[in-house]
Amino acid sequence: MQSMALLEGKVAIVTGAGRGVGRGEALALASHGARVIVNDVGVAVDGSGGEQGPAEEVVEQIRAAGGEAAANFENISSWDGAERLIKQAIDTWGQLDILVNNAGILRDRIIWNMTEEEWDAVINVHLKGTFCTTRHAVGHWRAKHKAGESVSGRRIINTASAAMLGNPGQANYAAAKGAIAAFTLTVAVEVQSMGITCNAIRPSAATRMTQAVGAGPPPESSDTSEEFNPRDPVHVGEFVSYLASDAAQWISGQVFSAYGDKMHLTKGWHTVNTIEKPGVGWTAEELVAAMPKLAGMAPVSMIEQLGFG
Ligand SMILES: NC(=O)c1ccc[n+]([C@@H]2O[C@H](COP(=O)([O-])OP(=O)(O)OC[C@H]3O[C@@H](n4cnc5c(N)ncnc54)[C@H](O)[C@@H]3O)[C@@H](O)[C@H]2O)c1
Repeated sequence: MQSMALLEGKVAIVTGAGRGVGRGEALALASHGARVIVNDVGVAVDGSGGEQGPAEEVVEQIRAAGGEAAANFENISSWDGAERLIKQAIDTWGQLDILVNNAGILRDRIIWNMTEEEWDAVINVHLKGTFCTTRHAVGHWRAKHKAGESVSGRRIINTASAAMLGNPGQANYAAAKGAIAAFTLTVAVEVQSMGITCNAIRPSAATRMTQAVGAGPPPESSDTSEEFNPRDPVHVGEFVSYLASDAAQWISGQVFSAYGDKMHLTKGWHTVNTIEKPGVGWTAEELVAAMPKLAGMAPVSMIEQLGFG
């Protein structure tokens, strides 16, 4: 254990924590003193199958290091399953302080071949899953707040991805991740008056998911390697541990990217240029001439800039 102080007394849930990034986050949170519910339904990268082993192994690892953890095997895209997950933290340790929404799957396919099932599966786990757990956690916190109890310092940490900036073959995944970023910004504003923060991270680490898209194998272990490995999920875990701590009370509605020794603040969808005809408005014909002024280049260059096709 490195430092017990940062998250001492806190109770955390990490979804999809049996493997990869979530596992690194659960181990890091526990190493900083949090008691952790390790949720994982134990599916393959494409969401098929299901086993309890991965969540149980992470729980064992946390306990072996002197920490406290419990396993949960609910599917977080199930409304009732997510409610049982939140309830388990409260029933086990009397409270919930930190919710890390991390669980995810991939069903990559180019848009003209993507099936309805591939679309639904990815949107369900990432986007609906993030909604279900957040809704039940915030519902619990809101009831406490209304009863006069402080819920200040509670944390929601969601998981976006660089794919939300556009990634061929991932229309379902990119759409889910962009929506999670927008969800994060909205929830952050909604829970602000209760002193709760909501942020998102765009992690980058070697996991079986990145291996599935050709990025090499995950590291053997998230916590025992002596040499600095930027692809180790534990670095994402350290960043999430900070965001989960009382020290991060001033940060909300932000999207960060976390990889190895580099942490970035990222911003998107801000206006960078404007054309205006005050009180009159534009006709489509007038826009033919005006658009290059707005877009900063001829329309054909913009398509070329996508770099695809
Ligand atoms: N690894 C990266 O570089 C990277 C980059 C960008 C975003 N992400 C995101 O980070 C998160 C974790 O990805 P990873 O790389 O660790 O992948 P991973 O496949 O190693 O781990 C994902 C875990 O989520 C679990 N899971 C899937 N569906 C679930 C469900 N319905 N309920 C509960 N658990 C479920 C899986 O069983 C698995 O253990 C995902 O949201 C992913 O999109 C990862």
